[in-house]
Amino acid sequence: MRVGRSALNGAPKMIAALGLGLVLTLTACGANSSGGSSGGSAGGSAAPSSGGVKVGVILPETDTSARWEGFDKPMLDKAMRAAGLDPDIQNAQGDEQKFSTLADGMISSGVKVLVIASISSDGGDAVAAKAKAQGIPVIDYDRLNLGGTSDYYVSFDNEKVGALQGQGLAQALQGKQGAQVIQIEGAPTDNNATLFYNGQQSVLKPMYDGGQLKLVANQAIDKWDNQVGGQTFEQLLTGNGGKVDGVVAANDGLAGAIVTVLTKYGLNGQVAVTGQDATADGLQAILRGDQYMTVFKPIQEEADATAKLAAALAKGDTATADQTATQTVNDPKGNRQVKSVLLTPQLITKDNVKTVTDAGYVKASEICVQATQAACDAAGIK
Ligand code: BGC
Repeated sequence: MRVGRSALNGAPKMIAALGLGLVLTLTACGANSSGGSSGGSAGGSAAPSSGGVKVGVILPETDTSARWEGFDKPMLDKAMRAAGLDPDIQNAQGDEQKFSTLADGMISSGVKVLVIASISSDGGDAVAAKAKAQGIPVIDYDRLNLGGTSDYYVSFDNEKVGALQGQGLAQALQGKQGAQVIQIEGAPTDNNATLFYNGQQSVLKPMYDGGQLKLVANQAIDKWDNQVGGQTFEQLLTGNGGKVDGVVAANDGLAGAIVTVLTKYGLNGQVAVTGQDATADGLQAILRGDQYMTVFKPIQEEADATAKLAAALAKGDTATADQTATQTVNDPKGNRQVKSVLLTPQLITKDNVKTVTDAGYVKASEICVQATQAACDAAGIK
């Protein structure tokens, strides 16, 4: 049994759920700890070796977001091959042990660079230290490992992601004085979840303080477990007498679980729900009117920057790497500045879903179904 622990442990200024006692005894059967049936085509990715320089990539999960297997994996593969690299891209399926084992395998197979999107900072730190001991440069991909040793970091401006979520919610609840809000956040062990939260609060806290919005509860979800997120939300909703006007869902996966609960109570479409990742499910929910917004992160740009960095580092060309990673982020735990590429996220509502289909991330056929066809027609999505 896993319990949605009280607010993001590592996150500062987390506001505990108000007056609900929050005794969450949830029967979580590990929606995202499938143990990995699909994760490892042993010996490397399915595509044939391009004869280039070997680079290992470990993605964290499948079930926490459709992005990892749907966007990151194919886009990294393409970008790395185009950069003359021979990528071995594996997914740890939310399993720390597997994450570590995959890294060991890649290190001993002679990868020249290791790219890691870790499940937790601690797990990522351990892997980065092992690689470093073998002289293998490590790039933190999407998630920064706090207290770590990785040389470079590629991601989006994650506080901006959170700020867009806050802005979207504020926009949706405009004019609803005292609108009640529940916040369902990501994993406490993922630094991104803290950054998303901080960004959201930059917009929402003044509105809570000023009484325009009312915070009902704020809850972090271990391992970004979508199913636990839905169950946690349901408890908070019923604990609040079935009343809610807006929900901060940290990504589309959590949003989907929340919309399922809202639908059960006949509230879908009346409650503003945020999201992130511009997944097909999220965009479809937006077109249906069940989700208000998502955040589009053009992952091809993240993959391209990572490939460029990896190609340079594989040759020991830190000058080119430094010209690519011109920004820095602060690692407060390690008290160090990490050279970074931070890309720009984009707010998506019903009005501009077409941006995502035009960019080729999601096909019209994946989101235009019977329930959304009229919205697709109106938006010119075909
Ligand atoms: C990523 C999000 C993703 C979440 C859950 C975060 O670290 O930045 O895009 O939705 O993890 O996988």
